[in-house]
Amino acid sequence: MITKTILSLGAGYVGGPTMAKIAEKCKDVTVYVGDLNQGRINAWNSDQLPVFEPGLDEIVKKCRGKNLHFIVPTEEHYKKADMIFVSVNTPTKSYGEGAGMAADLQYWELAARGIGQYARPGTIIVEKSTVPVKTAEAISVILNSEGVRYPVLSNPEFLAEGTAMKDLENPDRVLIGHEEDEQGRMAAGELKALYARWVPEEKILLTNVWSSELSKLTANAFLAQRVSSINSISALCEKTGASVAEISRAIGTDSRIGAKFLEASVGFGGSCFKKDILNLSYLSAQFGLPEVSEYWHSVVRMNDYQQERFVKQILSEQFNTVAGKKIVILGFAFKPDTNDTRESPAIYVCKRLLEEKAHLAIVDPQALGEAKTDLKGIDENVVYTEDAYAAAEGAHALVILTHWRQFGELDYRKIYSAMKKPAFLFDGRRLLDREKMYEIGFNVYSIGAKPLKKF
Ligand SMILES: NC(=O)c1ccc[n+]([C@@H]2O[C@H](COP(=O)([O-])OP(=O)(O)OC[C@H]3O[C@@H](n4cnc5c(N)ncnc54)[C@H](O)[C@@H]3O)[C@@H](O)[C@H]2O)c1
Repeated sequence: MITKTILSLGAGYVGGPTMAKIAEKCKDVTVYVGDLNQGRINAWNSDQLPVFEPGLDEIVKKCRGKNLHFIVPTEEHYKKADMIFVSVNTPTKSYGEGAGMAADLQYWELAARGIGQYARPGTIIVEKSTVPVKTAEAISVILNSEGVRYPVLSNPEFLAEGTAMKDLENPDRVLIGHEEDEQGRMAAGELKALYARWVPEEKILLTNVWSSELSKLTANAFLAQRVSSINSISALCEKTGASVAEISRAIGTDSRIGAKFLEASVGFGGSCFKKDILNLSYLSAQFGLPEVSEYWHSVVRMNDYQQERFVKQILSEQFNTVAGKKIVILGFAFKPDTNDTRESPAIYVCKRLLEEKAHLAIVDPQALGEAKTDLKGIDENVVYTEDAYAAAEGAHALVILTHWRQFGELDYRKIYSAMKKPAFLFDGRRLLDREKMYEIGFNVYSIGAKPLKKF
């Protein structure tokens, strides 16, 4: 292997953890993690990392200043790099052609132009961001316009936030898409050698570039589709008295279906599912496949429906008004063990409740800073706290939006006695034992089960 120096563009939820893992496993390789955002780089160099992931702190502390460096990239860093990973954000476009559906590639293109300007010819470019099919080809055109050659590989990241370090340590597979020429094969071999330091060879799959790019979009679309499918059934359960928990168990034991991603909830969140499905849907429409486009779009529509259905229940069950009522929001992150709130159902639910003039007390162990940013300008009637008991004082309702382990361990008798009566519990994550909560005195509304009401 000849890779001695790596530069990563993008020090976010993907760039930070993946590069920390590479630095940990490849002590002889110098890893520069670059970002245009000086504030983010400062945070990576501090004791309060900008990304919360179990196990990340330890690795960063072990490697930082040795072979792992967080920097704002300069010409020098590009020139030194043998391999450049691009892990920049690729959000849904909010303007112009394809607005609300297509991926916004402005950050990717900017990164590519920086590479074209400074990097040595032959530097291997690794596309880690999730991008539409054929992006690598477009990037190759930008990079190779002066007759200089940079091999471009597609190496999509499959880590899940909250378990990123475990996923990186022991991935189900590593996908490397390469151009089918001599240079492409050599570049793929080089990246494979890097991963082979800790990933068994049979788990490193080489494909063509397009298969690799489309595999990532497809994986996210399939996962989200499972959530939307079980959520659609949760609505039916609430009407009929069937229990979605029992249905999940019953169908999850079918070996053809499998047990994972069958948890009914207020809806999926995170920066990737929605944007990647919308992107897949947009691409399908662009390629003249309206039925395919519509099929995938319905997965997102079901998710929107589930969130709104949940809000409507909070309103209707509290006598059609929450104006001036205090509501405790347990959890703002889109899932436990992360501080990421992008596309979190909590954003939608809180905004809707604030529109209805509710007063909110938001409790989250890691994501309060992010919650403040998300609700900036509309949070006059919001308090943010890590103390669930203080939040419950005089509250009318509890709304569970993230299944943090800590929330399962609270003393709900104490919480109940601090609340106004009748006290309502809306469990958007099916975290708590509904019978027990009903016994304590709550009116209990848990996704996918018939409500247990005191009146
Ligand atoms: N978050 C996930 O769980 C996850 C998982 C797999 C794949 N992905 C994909 O990985 C990509 C990155 O996601 P993320 O969650 O890490 O995003 P993020 O927003 O947390 O991080 C992206 C970073 O890139 C920086 N950046 C933008 N343009 C730059 C440039 N030209 N040079 C240097 N830095 C630049 C931004 O300042 C930002 O800090 C996306 O395409 C996403 O779809 C994300």
